[in-house]
Amino acid sequence: MKVEILAGSVSKFGELWDVSPRDLVKGVVLEALFETRLKTGEIEAVYIGNMLSSSLGGQDHLGAFFSEVLGLNVPAMKVEGACASGGLAVHAGILAVTSGLYKNVLVVGIEKMTDHKPEEVAKALMGAGSDEEREAGATFPGLYAMIARAYMKKYGVSEEDLASVAVKNHYHASLNSHAQFRFPVTIEQVMKSSVVSSPLKLLDCSPISDGAAAVILGQGSGVRGQGSVNIIASAVATDSLGVADRSDLTSLQSTVLAAKKAYWQAGIKPSQIDVAEVHDCFTIAEIIAMDDLGFFPRGKSAQFIRRKKTTLGFGYPVVNTSGGLKAAGHPVGATGVKQIVEIYRQLKGVAGKKQVKNAKIGLTHNVGGSGATAVIHILKSDK
Ligand code: COA
Repeated sequence: MKVEILAGSVSKFGELWDVSPRDLVKGVVLEALFETRLKTGEIEAVYIGNMLSSSLGGQDHLGAFFSEVLGLNVPAMKVEGACASGGLAVHAGILAVTSGLYKNVLVVGIEKMTDHKPEEVAKALMGAGSDEEREAGATFPGLYAMIARAYMKKYGVSEEDLASVAVKNHYHASLNSHAQFRFPVTIEQVMKSSVVSSPLKLLDCSPISDGAAAVILGQGSGVRGQGSVNIIASAVATDSLGVADRSDLTSLQSTVLAAKKAYWQAGIKPSQIDVAEVHDCFTIAEIIAMDDLGFFPRGKSAQFIRRKKTTLGFGYPVVNTSGGLKAAGHPVGATGVKQIVEIYRQLKGVAGKKQVKNAKIGLTHNVGGSGATAVIHILKSDK
């Protein structure tokens, strides 16, 4: 398969109290349209990645809501898969284009979280978990803390190893003008930050964020001329909602399955990936993703991260150049679309200070809940 990315745009991520969801979406869509020089009327369908508009915003008709905002009368629908909603919306857009039904489609990811109390947000996020997890009063930091303990015990990984993921991603975010936290941190600062759910501390966690991102997908339209970037694999896999129903806490089966399909579709090996955006909702999640995506031998990824193998300027693949969810922010429905925009820009060679040298093939990895959904895309530059 081959679907061209015609344009991509990301808003600033963070506490955007003065910007409405309408204006967030208008901003990214107008910027993307300007990049393609397409007219609004040339967009034939809209896919909106969003998780919480219903539980937090009271809006249950998001496709038509944003269609009206954008002045479109085309098919428009919300695609939902918890924190993987954005990646799933891209997958839906790809299906629409490859089916031949639509030529150009718009995919938007949007989430507005910071207008609500932290306990309301934590409860709404648990909508991604199982009934048993909700009844037990579990939270996502709590679930990932248990995953972290199991992994640390099995592979001899330390809290400092977890912290090194935050150090890398905060450094990358310091180079990203749209990131929520644009300051570097040290291992000592991570270790001294307040405990959220032991062993995870404040600086091991992604934050609560607002933000939006948009991509326009098409097929062989040649609108942008030279140096196109194409999506050459789009794979999704699912697993049990609750962690208690899994045989192994130290790997996400959904990621392993989706990765296998994605590498097969693209006809490449993990070692060919130059740059990746992975789902680091908590530092342990990035370490497990490195194992599951086949970047490093299982159980050894923390050592490679700590030795800066995935830091810009030190080795390949460079991981989370945007700052990841940890430091660029995690407006849940927007994250999967933002990951695509980041890799698109890397492969176009327009990623600015965080540009990875000679990046030709990139991967995005977006996870819903504690691993019940995984969406993987592989992008390739034809330059
Ligand atoms: N990383 C770095 N700094 C953070 C942060 C994070 N993840 N979260 C908040 N901060 C900062 C804030 O900017 C603020 O700084 P300031 O005092 O200089 O303004 C300070 O820490 C306190 O912020 P506050 O909003 O009061 O934090 P909190 O204690 O209410 O929330 C978490 C912190 C980690 C509990 C919350 O961000 C959280 O629940 N994260 C996980 C979200 C999640 O589960 N997503 C789904 C993943 S599957």
